[in-house]
Amino acid sequence: MSTKTRVLTGITTTGTPHLGNYVGAIRPAIQASQNTQMESFYFLADFHALIKCHEPERVEASRREIAATWLALGLDTQQAVFYRQSDIAEIPELMWLLTSVAAKGLMNRAHAYKAAVQDNLAAQEDADLGVTMGLYSYPILMAADILMFNAHQVPVGRDQIQHIEMARDIGQRFNHIFKEDFFTLPEAVVDQRVAVLNGLDGRKMSKSYNNTIPLFEPEKKLRKLINKIKTNSLEPGEPKDPTDCTLFQIYTAFAEQADVDAMRHRYAEGIGWGEMKGVLFELINEQLRGPREEYQRLLADPGYVEGVLREGAQKARAEAAPFLDRLKRAVGLGPFA
Ligand code: TRP
Repeated sequence: MSTKTRVLTGITTTGTPHLGNYVGAIRPAIQASQNTQMESFYFLADFHALIKCHEPERVEASRREIAATWLALGLDTQQAVFYRQSDIAEIPELMWLLTSVAAKGLMNRAHAYKAAVQDNLAAQEDADLGVTMGLYSYPILMAADILMFNAHQVPVGRDQIQHIEMARDIGQRFNHIFKEDFFTLPEAVVDQRVAVLNGLDGRKMSKSYNNTIPLFEPEKKLRKLINKIKTNSLEPGEPKDPTDCTLFQIYTAFAEQADVDAMRHRYAEGIGWGEMKGVLFELINEQLRGPREEYQRLLADPGYVEGVLREGAQKARAEAAPFLDRLKRAVGLGPFA
C-alpha cells in the first residue's frame, strides 16, 4: 500500500468553466497534483450532471469543454488520474451496495433535497414535486465516487461539506455491518486561502447569477466582459478603496503580491476605472493566452482527449474492479466456485 495522501475530487459537468472555477478549484487542484507526496484523482462527474440536466447536447458539450479545460491548463495526466465517472461501471455498482446500507433519514437531511422540498411547500405544492430519485440519492453516488478509491482528502466548496460527512457516515456503516475496515473515511478540505471571485455584478461569480466571465472567451470578448464589471461612480483622480472592489479582487487572484501592493497605492492615488479595467484585462489575458490556444486545439481534437480519458479510466478501474470484487464477496455476492 502506498503511504501517499490520496486526494480526490469531482467536477460536475454542467456549464462552461469560468474565472471563478479556475481560481477557486481548477488552479489549486492542478497545483496540488504536482506535489509528489500526494496522489490525485480528478474526474468528470457526468453521472451527477444527469441529475441536473436532461439536455444531452449540453451534457455532452460541457464534459468536452471541462476535459479540454483541465488538460489545456496543464494537468499532468501521468501524475494525476483523470477520468470520466461514467467510464467506471464499478461506481454505480458500488452505489447500490451503499444504497442498501444508507439510512433514508440521512438522505432526508441533505441540503439540496431539503431546499427543494421547502420551495415546494412554500409554493403550496406537493413536497416532492420535481424531485427525482437522482437528486434524493445524490449523496450516495458521491459517497461511491469517494469510497471507491479510498480517498483521504476531498477538496470541495463549503456547500459540499455535508456530502463528505454523509460519505463518512455511509462508509462507516458499511464497515461496521460487514465487520472490516473496507473504506477509508474521507475528510473534506476547504481551502480558506483560495479566492472566491465575484462576478460582473459584484455578487459571487456563479452560473446561477448569470454574472460569470467564461475562462476561454476570445480576447475581444474577454475585454468586453471585463469592461462590464460593475464599479462605483468615482472619477479618475479620486482616491478609491480596494476593499469590496470586484476589479481589485480579481486582480489579486491573478497578480504577484508585489504588484498587488503597488496597485493598492494606485487606488489611493485615484486610478481611473477605465484604466484599471485595461490593466486587469492585460494581466488575465497574458496568463490565459497560451492555455486558450491549447484549449481550442483540444476541442478540435476530441479523439485525443478521448484517448487521455480512457487511459485514466483504465488506471482507475485497475483499482476499482478488484476492490469491488472484494466488497461483493463481503456482502455475499461472490462467485459460487
Ligand atoms: N457534488 C460535487 C459538486 O457539485 C461534485 C462531485 C461529484 C464530487 N462527486 C464528487 C466532489 C466526489 C468531490 C468528490 O461540486
